[in-house]
Amino acid sequence: MKRGFAILGAGRLGRTLGRLLALRNYPPGGLSCRTLRSARQASAFIGGGTPTTSNTQAATRAQLVLIATPDREIVPVARQLARARLAWTGRIVAHTSGALSSAALAPLKSRGASVASIHPLASVAAPRPDLEFRGTPFALEGDPKAVRVLRGMILDIGGLPVTIPRQAKALYHLIACILSNDLVAFLACGFESARGLGLGPRQAARLYLPLIRGTVENVAGLGPVKALTGPVSRGDIATLRLHTEALRTLPADVRRLHRILALRSASLALRARTITPELAARTARLLGALP
Ligand SMILES: NC(=O)c1ccc[n+]([C@@H]2O[C@H](COP(=O)([O-])OP(=O)(O)OC[C@H]3O[C@@H](n4cnc5c(N)ncnc54)[C@H](OP(=O)(O)O)[C@@H]3O)[C@@H](O)[C@H]2O)c1
Repeated sequence: MKRGFAILGAGRLGRTLGRLLALRNYPPGGLSCRTLRSARQASAFIGGGTPTTSNTQAATRAQLVLIATPDREIVPVARQLARARLAWTGRIVAHTSGALSSAALAPLKSRGASVASIHPLASVAAPRPDLEFRGTPFALEGDPKAVRVLRGMILDIGGLPVTIPRQAKALYHLIACILSNDLVAFLACGFESARGLGLGPRQAARLYLPLIRGTVENVAGLGPVKALTGPVSRGDIATLRLHTEALRTLPADVRRLHRILALRSASLALRARTITPELAARTARLLGALP
């Protein structure tokens, strides 16, 4: 018999987890949100569960309590639950923040709950019924009992449990933000730069996305050192000079980003031995002199 679960903060991630758990025969219990309207929408999306605005009520009968509120609400919610007249011994409580560790749930641990943090390394921009976590790594750390139960739960919904030590969670999450959120901002910079070609951001995305997808595939298959192509990797100084004038038309932050990343490309090219140390030094001088 699977444990009954509650989701406190049934938003984008909470709804997605709730739906996948319900599909794998975990009985849905309470679902809490700030507003009843949102909790009702969550219940409809999950296909069961009792909507409420009370976190305590939502948690009352669940053996597995998942807190998927925004990060800033996790400690206040844990304190609120710990003050409630509920028996916590034997229950599992986990939050889904990437940056916070299970230590954020200390008030519930001191009441006898077994606590953990679970974080899917995925970007859920909107809860979609067809969204699956098949093959998605889930960072997991916490009390041994909670980790054992949650490992089974993650495997049940197709995820891959990965141990991230409690003290490393902030760094683990920062890297995820650099590789995902910063990448989104970086792509937006590129698409907006195509204004000079007379293209809007959507048209620019259509033009450049096959290249972007191919590049990510190459990095996945070959690693960054072997995946690098382009004029820096070839030591093609004449082409880099041609870029200088075009670069003047772009905003200062995009120019800075290009300079920093092209320097990093030169060091990758040096490691790949596609350029000599002399060519790397010439490339660095040229990039340093860019507008
Ligand atoms: N989205 C992702 O891609 C993703 C991926 C991995 C991890 N996470 C983590 O998952 C957590 C939630 O992120 P999200 O993107 O799903 O956020 P979200 O879509 O904004 O959902 C947050 C939900 O929490 C509810 N809420 C806010 N304060 C509350 C409180 N005090 N008590 C009960 N419910 C409360 C909100 O209610 P209303 O709807 O009524 O406003 C909303 O339903 C965060 O810890 C985040 O770091 C998110």
